[in-house]
Amino acid sequence: MLNYMIERMTRKKIGNVKFSRTKPEIPNDKDEIGLYIHIPFCKVPCPFCAYIRYPWNPKLERPYVEAVKEEINLYRERLSDVKINSIYVGGGTPTIMPEGIADILRHAEDTFDVSSDIGVESNPDDLNEKTLELLLDAGVSKLSMGVQSFNDEILKAIGRRSHDAKQALDAIELVMDNGGFDTFSIDLMFSLPTQSLSSLKRDLEIAIEKGVPQVATYPLLLFPYCKMYRDEKEGKVKLQNKKIEKCMYDTIVDSFTDAGYEPCSVWSFVKQGIDKYGSVERDEYVGIGAGAMSSVNQYFYANTASIEEYTRTVGEGALPITIGAEFQPEGVAARWLSMSLYETGFDKREFKNRFSMGVDEKFKSFLRWLKLFGIIKLEGDHVQVTRKGMCPIHLMTKTFLLTFIAKACVACMENPKPLNLQVG
Ligand SMILES: C[S@@+](CC[C@H](N)C(=O)[O-])C[C@H]1O[C@@H](n2cnc3c(N)ncnc32)[C@H](O)[C@@H]1O
Ligand code: SF4
Repeated sequence: MLNYMIERMTRKKIGNVKFSRTKPEIPNDKDEIGLYIHIPFCKVPCPFCAYIRYPWNPKLERPYVEAVKEEINLYRERLSDVKINSIYVGGGTPTIMPEGIADILRHAEDTFDVSSDIGVESNPDDLNEKTLELLLDAGVSKLSMGVQSFNDEILKAIGRRSHDAKQALDAIELVMDNGGFDTFSIDLMFSLPTQSLSSLKRDLEIAIEKGVPQVATYPLLLFPYCKMYRDEKEGKVKLQNKKIEKCMYDTIVDSFTDAGYEPCSVWSFVKQGIDKYGSVERDEYVGIGAGAMSSVNQYFYANTASIEEYTRTVGEGALPITIGAEFQPEGVAARWLSMSLYETGFDKREFKNRFSMGVDEKFKSFLRWLKLFGIIKLEGDHVQVTRKGMCPIHLMTKTFLLTFIAKACVACMENPKPLNLQVG
């Protein structure tokens, strides 16, 4: 009942926003904003992957890097008085082209007023001394690496062919011995086909034994264009049921808590006393690159997912934006609230600063209801998700991604032609 209510509320308040070809508002009224840079290439694309990415060919690097730099130039004037408060390079696999990343980051720093940490996503098979050096020289301070599982059988079952468990363990050792990054995080996945509870427990134990400072654990989410989504519909793959997923989720929370990690979101855990690694979640950000998404004011919009259209459009001096959604004021606040709950809590004063209205006035009955069911507790002005609330908020986040974000990705792929917006 509780989970049903949470899912319904998320769908109603955020999930039912429609994406269309309406023109978004390009930011010029911000003091600060995040920058998200998308690198949509992978050596061996995984069949479960929900992100916009294409098979890698080294010939793609130069034209793509130049196109990204051109898109950055398009925002130069518009963001001239805006501080860039975070840079996050995601994919795809950014570390497939470390020199290209360094070039893009240098260009962003020359163009904007950057005062932030820089985070980059990586694959184990790309990490070696030279790549780490290039990233550190480019100012990268936070590194995240996708492992998914330390079990070779599971990697095989999910079609993760770019590395095996040994390569992931070696890469973890390499990064941790190097010690140059302020934060290092790995991704594990759960609720995977053929994954047993004991196999998941072993994955968690290995991450903890290795002393990895931060671990993100993602439940498998299949978007309609994923190969594994189609395989499941055709009966070739069997997914875990909700009961097992809940059990796996509880095991994750308990294992990390017992090992002295703290949740920094419902899906990620950080060793006590260490800076957390995050992508752009609660904050507003401008997305650069093919398939990149942006979130500014009441607008959420996406660049074309087509590399050809992307390169052509920025080459012609227009923004590569293809679709967008405009939230009603209540939707903007609901999205902020759900992201804050995903991050396990927030200060009521932050909400008031942002929306010029108290969160208790805006979401009175919802908050009362969350409190009644023990999902949140109040400590002065601080709203904290409780241990009991972690699973319902995990489900709320899943619903948000499977409705709103999946819809955005599908619309972005179905509309490769950009709107030809000039940055005015
Ligand atoms: C965009 S990937 C980038 C990292 C890198 N390419 C890699 O795979 O190692 C970031 C993370 O998203 C997660 N991910 C990808 N597809 C997913 C899906 N369908 N459901 C849940 N998590 C997913 C994986 O844990 C992955 O490490
Ligand atoms: S999970 Fe990572 S490596 Fe696999 S396809 Fe997605 S972005 Fe590429």
